[in-house]
Amino acid sequence: MQKVRKAVIPAAGLGTRFLPATKAMAKEMMPVVDTPSIQYVVEEAIKSGIEEILIVTGKGKNAIEDHFDANITLENNLREKGKDALLEKVKATNIPSIHYVRQAYPKGLGDAILQAAPFVGNEPFVVLLGDDIMPNDVPLTKQLMEIYDKYGKGSIATIRIPEDKSNRFGVIDMDGALGEHLHLIDHLVEKPSPEEAPSNLGIVGRYLLTPEIFEILREQAPDSGGEVQLTDALETLNQISPLIAYEYTGKRYDVGDKYGMLIANIEFGLDHPETDEKMKTFIKELATKLKEN
Ligand code: G1P
Repeated sequence: MQKVRKAVIPAAGLGTRFLPATKAMAKEMMPVVDTPSIQYVVEEAIKSGIEEILIVTGKGKNAIEDHFDANITLENNLREKGKDALLEKVKATNIPSIHYVRQAYPKGLGDAILQAAPFVGNEPFVVLLGDDIMPNDVPLTKQLMEIYDKYGKGSIATIRIPEDKSNRFGVIDMDGALGEHLHLIDHLVEKPSPEEAPSNLGIVGRYLLTPEIFEILREQAPDSGGEVQLTDALETLNQISPLIAYEYTGKRYDVGDKYGMLIANIEFGLDHPETDEKMKTFIKELATKLKEN
């Protein structure tokens, strides 16, 4: 079995759900407490044993590259002031194993992944979407890598979704079980209406793919909105090289959405040593006030 060493993180989206915040700032740099959302995703990949990461960026995304590069002026300043803990935090984000490529036109997630073809070469690889932060003792990416080691197949992370939310996810029509939380896939549909959804198993942002996906993406016509959909390419890949749907049951924060971002900030804030106590007191007081109204 080939070792999975590489990860691709698409980060070229315009972030329109967060306008005006994202007018001049990459949405991936929006913080959850004190950490840009993309850093959680990069850390998940590294914690899973990934050695090389490619971030697919676009115009206006330079802050992402700056974030994972050394900032010598800042480091010197913190060192001179004796702010050692902060200095360590800042230096931990200097990650030389991250590479970058730009997606020239906003032609969808599938096209963004296609930009990774020269980086990936002929190896299996993982894709992590930055909108999903999924903290877990065993990172979800690592769980997909373990499935690959055991079954030699690509996989897609999924969760059970509320029926009325199917039009926000790729949805999987299952074809029997392979093991606990492991499903074979009959076919996949991108963002079906609740009436058309084949199940309540929705795709979340972690995939382990084999390099045949690139040939499929190259051949695939864009949808009516001009976007090359990754889910459509997965449908084709599944026909020639069956994929496994892995049902993840851990925590998930959808930080690509205002509400999900607020929830993530509250919960991570309740867990952060500098804010936990104050947050608890504030939330308790707020809950009492809300009950009164
Ligand atoms: C993308 C995929 C979709 C998947 C979702 C998970 O959609 O196209 O299949 O369910 O990510 O977050 P997006 O949310 O980028 O529109």
